Amino acid sequence: MGLDEGTVSWQELLDESISRLQEAGVEDALISARRIVEEASGFEGAELVLHFTEPATKRCVAHLDSMMARRMDGEPLQYVVGRWSFRMLDLLVDSRVLIPRPETEEVAGWAIEEAQRFETPTVVDLGTGTGAIGLSVATEVEQSLVYLTDLSSDALAVARANLIGTGRAAARVTISEGSWFNALHQDLQGSFNVVVSNPPYVREDDELPAVVRDWEPGMALRAGADGLNDLLPIATEAIDWLVPDGALVLEMAPDQTQVVAEHCLAVGFASAEVRADLSGRARAVVARTPGGTTD
Ligand SMILES: C[S@@+](CC[C@H](N)C(=O)[O-])C[C@H]1O[C@@H](n2cnc3c(N)ncnc32)[C@H](O)[C@@H]1O
Repeated sequence: MGLDEGTVSWQELLDESISRLQEAGVEDALISARRIVEEASGFEGAELVLHFTEPATKRCVAHLDSMMARRMDGEPLQYVVGRWSFRMLDLLVDSRVLIPRPETEEVAGWAIEEAQRFETPTVVDLGTGTGAIGLSVATEVEQSLVYLTDLSSDALAVARANLIGTGRAAARVTISEGSWFNALHQDLQGSFNVVVSNPPYVREDDELPAVVRDWEPGMALRAGADGLNDLLPIATEAIDWLVPDGALVLEMAPDQTQVVAEHCLAVGFASAEVRADLSGRARAVVARTPGGTTD
């Protein structure tokens, strides 16, 4: 592009960006161009339309150019713009973390519902990545105490940055590094009202779309031959960390839900319910420990 300051409007830049992305074969050229122009201009949604005729500064055009080059290279839009919305949060997202998925917003919702059964719930989000699930709980459930854990120090650096963005809720959040429950102090055993996790669950042999395989962190995705290497041990151990009538909320692939639900019952949970996401696909298991009124 390389246009001089004051010579080109945001409308022209948007049109040109759409054409460039289409020519480069980017699938969601319209959406990508729009988000990139929004990010470069600082105007979002209807605000951008109001400023369409304004000229872009040289600095903004340079920012736009660098984002366009990354998108045309195939990098996911979320990493290119560096932030993505998740429920009520605007999360920092980069290649150190998995991009939070829409179905995970529903999983976070189920964890929130489980937490709301208690007055001052203590909740842990294991393998938090951006912090999407745990920070949603902290933001949407007043009085909750939330722990975020991950094995990746890189991911936790992103979660920490997102924690700052939650304002007052941040005071109720603790971050710790380590493998699953090992990240937590032993004294916390038996004290969690909710354990929630979206662990890696992709089978070793499963083909991933190139954009996921080439750009997102492998350790956030793969979990052994059957994809159950993390799900089953988390379910087994969760029993020791939950209060009576506490809840385990686990995200997984549709064809893993039955096995995981049966495993939960086998290791001592009183109930294990499979939940479907908005597209109707079995997406999570919500299991409760004994001690509820129906036991
Ligand atoms: C599928 S991603 C989910 C990220 C985030 N919770 C979300 O829903 O967007 C799985 C996360 O688990 C973390 N992880 C992988 N192995 C782990 C382990 N052994 N202990 C703790 N976290 C682990 C990864 O670093 C990654 O952040």
